[in-house]
Amino acid sequence: MALYSEKVMDHFRNPRNVGILEDANGIGEVGNAKCGDIMKIYLKIEDDIVKDVRFETFGCGSAIASSSMATEMIKGKPLKDALALTNKAVAEALDGLPAHKMHCSVLAEEAIKRAILDYYKRKGLPYDEETFREAECCHETE
Ligand code: FES
Repeated sequence: MALYSEKVMDHFRNPRNVGILEDANGIGEVGNAKCGDIMKIYLKIEDDIVKDVRFETFGCGSAIASSSMATEMIKGKPLKDALALTNKAVAEALDGLPAHKMHCSVLAEEAIKRAILDYYKRKGLPYDEETFREAECCHETE
């Protein structure tokens, strides 16, 4: 069996939503200290909807595929759905990732959470700290 699914290869070779969003109102960046990979998510949020999303990922193929799939999964969706997106759901949507590559999908979940947190902070909106505990504390890029 191939190590990577066709979906992973497709999103790696033809990543969706790549680049910078100039008018983003929520930006989240995370990194994995072990592998050194970095992912940045740009969100344009209006009326509690993710109107647009872009990503920049300096990392492995699985991280690129995860970012691409994750952006597709939240584009046009209510903010609460974007917030609820798990790395497991991203990996499942990619028809799976090898066990040692699951952390790549975690970057996507955390980058999106950080971008939403950034949006809440910019707007001065109240947020549930517990929801963002991981995103805020653990994966700062230095
Ligand atoms: Fe670290 Fe993929 S190897 S994000």
